[in-house]
Amino acid sequence: ATSTNGFKVLLMGRAGAGKTSMKSIIFANYHSRDTKMLQPTNHVEHNSLRFLGNLRLNLWDCGGQDQFMENYFESQRENIFQHCEVLIYVLVAARDKNPGNDERKKDVEYFKDAIESLTKHSPNATTFVLIHKLDLVHESKRAEVYRQVKEELLTVAPERAQDRITFMGTSIWDDTLFKAWSKIVAVMVPDPDVLQAHVNFMCQQLMADEVVIFEKNTFLVITRAHTKEMPDQYRFEKLSNIIKQYKLSCQKAKTNFRNFVVKNDRFRAIIAPRCDVDGRDDV
Ligand code: GTP
Repeated sequence: ATSTNGFKVLLMGRAGAGKTSMKSIIFANYHSRDTKMLQPTNHVEHNSLRFLGNLRLNLWDCGGQDQFMENYFESQRENIFQHCEVLIYVLVAARDKNPGNDERKKDVEYFKDAIESLTKHSPNATTFVLIHKLDLVHESKRAEVYRQVKEELLTVAPERAQDRITFMGTSIWDDTLFKAWSKIVAVMVPDPDVLQAHVNFMCQQLMADEVVIFEKNTFLVITRAHTKEMPDQYRFEKLSNIIKQYKLSCQKAKTNFRNFVVKNDRFRAIIAPRCDVDGRDDV
């Protein structure tokens, strides 16, 4: 259920975990390399984003320095954790294993505080844990590091919260970030089963190979139906990047587009808005 003020989403994790980077890439069209210039977030930065036409997503980007984190679990606890729909907890996959280095310990401790506070103040909220910066772990070790971190975090989560936690491995340098955020925003879609049924129907009636619903501003994938296995598993993220770039070029030329068709002799892709009953573009 959504509160009338929209969805409250907490973005939390220690300093430098990559929270503001992902927010800027997904919602503000930053390129991954631009995130190197980001400054640490002071306290909580609030963003109110329009989403899926008329939904509002209130994103609380919670600065991760220790003095801020401690505040969230003490004096600010109720204010931060009440009326939440989603908690996104971000932590760095690879931590230095030097003896005396307690970085991982702190990640786990803060996660425990966060999930306990959430369970108390917003018991129905969903949690996503992003085991992030996986690009910094050698490919051969990624699965193992991911599994270890996940197990470590699960042991400190209250039992009744465990089936509300989804773990995902991410990096701003490949398509995993886009996939993870597509999964996160899917939680906010009203009546997902109805939408899925409509998309399935549309796909069959049109005899399309695939129908995909993208969110208009972020170009994240909301849902899809297909009648054929599609060849390129990175196609959604590629398409999203291309359209976002195209939108930026249009903005520079002070123009916009409503729909367009790309075709060659093998395929045809049609990009069109879904209109609501008043004829306004919705998705
Ligand atoms: P606070 O605002 O202090 O809480 O930090 P934050 O979690 O918002 O971190 P921020 O997004 O500012 O990122 C810190 C640094 O991590 C930046 O230099 C990013 O470029 C880098 N970074 C973010 N995501 C990734 C990733 O997936 N891989 C790598 N290698 N670096 C990343």
